[in-house]
Amino acid sequence: MLRSTMLAAARSQGVRRLVEANPLTRPVVERFVAGTDPVDAVRVTRTLREQGMHVTLDHLGEDTLDAQQAADTVRAYQEMLSVLAAEGLADRAEVSVKLSAVGQSLPTDGEKIALDNARLICEAAAAAGTTVTLDMEDHTTTDSTLAILRDLRVDFPWVGAVLQSYLHRTEQDCRDLATEGSRVRLCKGAYSEPASVAYQDRAEVDRSYVRCLKILMNGAGYPMVATHDPRMVSIAADLAARAGRGAGDFEYQMLYGIRPEEQKRIAAAGNKLRVYVAYGDEWYGYFMRRLAERPANLVFFLRSLVSQ
Ligand code: FDA
Repeated sequence: MLRSTMLAAARSQGVRRLVEANPLTRPVVERFVAGTDPVDAVRVTRTLREQGMHVTLDHLGEDTLDAQQAADTVRAYQEMLSVLAAEGLADRAEVSVKLSAVGQSLPTDGEKIALDNARLICEAAAAAGTTVTLDMEDHTTTDSTLAILRDLRVDFPWVGAVLQSYLHRTEQDCRDLATEGSRVRLCKGAYSEPASVAYQDRAEVDRSYVRCLKILMNGAGYPMVATHDPRMVSIAADLAARAGRGAGDFEYQMLYGIRPEEQKRIAAAGNKLRVYVAYGDEWYGYFMRRLAERPANLVFFLRSLVSQ
């Protein structure tokens, strides 16, 4: 109930104005977002690299209904990718892209515009010597995102996909994508979805996560285990060992600001660990989804507002 209210607020322009206008919000936002400036993202990337971790950078933004804004987002990614190359960070840092930030939700030719824009970002990533992963948004975009993925992979076979275990369809998507060289980031899913397409019960989402992990670990692709859930992390380790996968044959992924000590522990144990680092001005939707994931975050946020 609280989760769906928070996720509805994540899409509300009224609540957005209230939250963004409050200066006391900032310290809580900074727990999950590296900063508003690309310089902040590069600084965080360098620090994580020094700690033996890998990074994926998300230039915040989504649901763009303006072609110019989509083009600006592409430029921001191109600039970030050339900075990563110039700073010698491209061996450890890639980028994650929400297709709705590069035009997928535009009313006319949205899918084609998003494909063309994503292609420009992939070209910049190839020039920098790194990779791109396409984030997955709500279920109405899944088919379109997977179609764009297929098109991009013709020229850029290293483009990564994200699949969400809360969707009923995802086991089949895992089977389809568990092919040679295919990078697949498996997460539980962060949007408010109807029972017609998604499991509503957390235990069912977890069971689906394990079934999907089995398919990916036993397949020919490269699984990216995106979760902070200690049970899922330990099941992933068992499944990887049973499938004969070593540390370089799959990776763990977590979000910046969530369980940072566990991130250090996993990396220090010799595993590959990638941190998803979001940066930029458009932090509202991303931030609200992080609050929705954990009631304690919301309490912490509200307390910070009243205790100032
Ligand atoms: P779960 O929610 O069960 O949490 C397990 C434990 O992790 C909690 O008990 C708590 O300790 C900790 N935790 C989890 N969330 C927390 C939070 N917000 N604050 C503090 N502690 C928290 N989703 C999506 O729909 N599309 C996408 O493209 C992506 N991309 C993505 C990339 C990466 C690298 C990650 C790690 C996650 C995503 N997600 C996502 C988000 C994902 O779907 C999911 O909402 C969160 O990861 C939370 O789910 P967990 O698997 O961590 O489990």
